[in-house]
Amino acid sequence: MSSDPAITTTARQAPGLKIPVHLGVIMDGNGRWARSRGKPRTEGHMAGVKALRRIVDLSIRYGVANLTVFSFSSENWSRPRDEINFIFTLLRRFVASDLETLYRNNVRVRIIGTRLGLEASLQRLIDDVEQKTALNTGLNLTVAFNYGGRAEITEAIRRIAVAVSAGELRPEDITEATVERALYTYGLPDPDLIIRTSGEQRVSNFLLWQGAYSELVFVEQNWPDFDERSFLGVLEEYSLRERRFGGVEAQSL
Ligand code: IPE
Ligand code: IPE
Ligand code: MG
Repeated sequence: MSSDPAITTTARQAPGLKIPVHLGVIMDGNGRWARSRGKPRTEGHMAGVKALRRIVDLSIRYGVANLTVFSFSSENWSRPRDEINFIFTLLRRFVASDLETLYRNNVRVRIIGTRLGLEASLQRLIDDVEQKTALNTGLNLTVAFNYGGRAEITEAIRRIAVAVSAGELRPEDITEATVERALYTYGLPDPDLIIRTSGEQRVSNFLLWQGAYSELVFVEQNWPDFDERSFLGVLEEYSLRERRFGGVEAQSL
């Protein structure tokens, strides 16, 4: 991954620029990016992988500790079979070709979403990348793949119900912390900021529980066009936001 130390220094020194501890990204608009260039949607997805590498690199350089990207939703199964196959192939290639670089950059990779229904070879690849990077201590990169917030919460409820029916947990002892422990993201702080590209202003089932108090920034650009300039623009907007968490102005963080 390339990096430009000069830009990093400038960014870190920019007065008042707040860096989110956990950044979530809904990488949207690959299809529209391709269409506007007269290209097939698949080219948009390929360009989207380049933008993914870019944001991993930017997160490392700007000191974002946790980055979670939405790459395939449980609802994306309703797309044409060819497109789904292509996206899956891209994930395989990303994992295989970037593993070395991610490892060298001290990135810890986790894939969240349901593994049920994924081919055994893909599941092995996912386990492999997670295991190989498990002891890394730099950026925590979480890829939401075959992920849906409702499915995640449903799965958590099921796990809790199993514990209750086994007599290991009393219903009156279920707290928000119990639910958090049963989510895929256990151990990650809630996202401070969620970005969505392509001008759509919705969360589309991304980190529903975890994003309860996230700042949302919507960007007009399609995902493949999202670059360092866009990233800085988003951080500037985020830095101006006042987070209240239900309190009043003076209590904001
Ligand atoms: C985001 O781009 C990638 C995935 C959802 C897999 P889209 O493929 O949704 O692109 P648009 O929204 O059709 O432009
Ligand atoms: C959300 O984008 C999912 C991902 C970016 C992976 P979609 O393009 O699937 O969302 P909708 O259909 O516009 O809500
Ligand atoms: Mg889309």
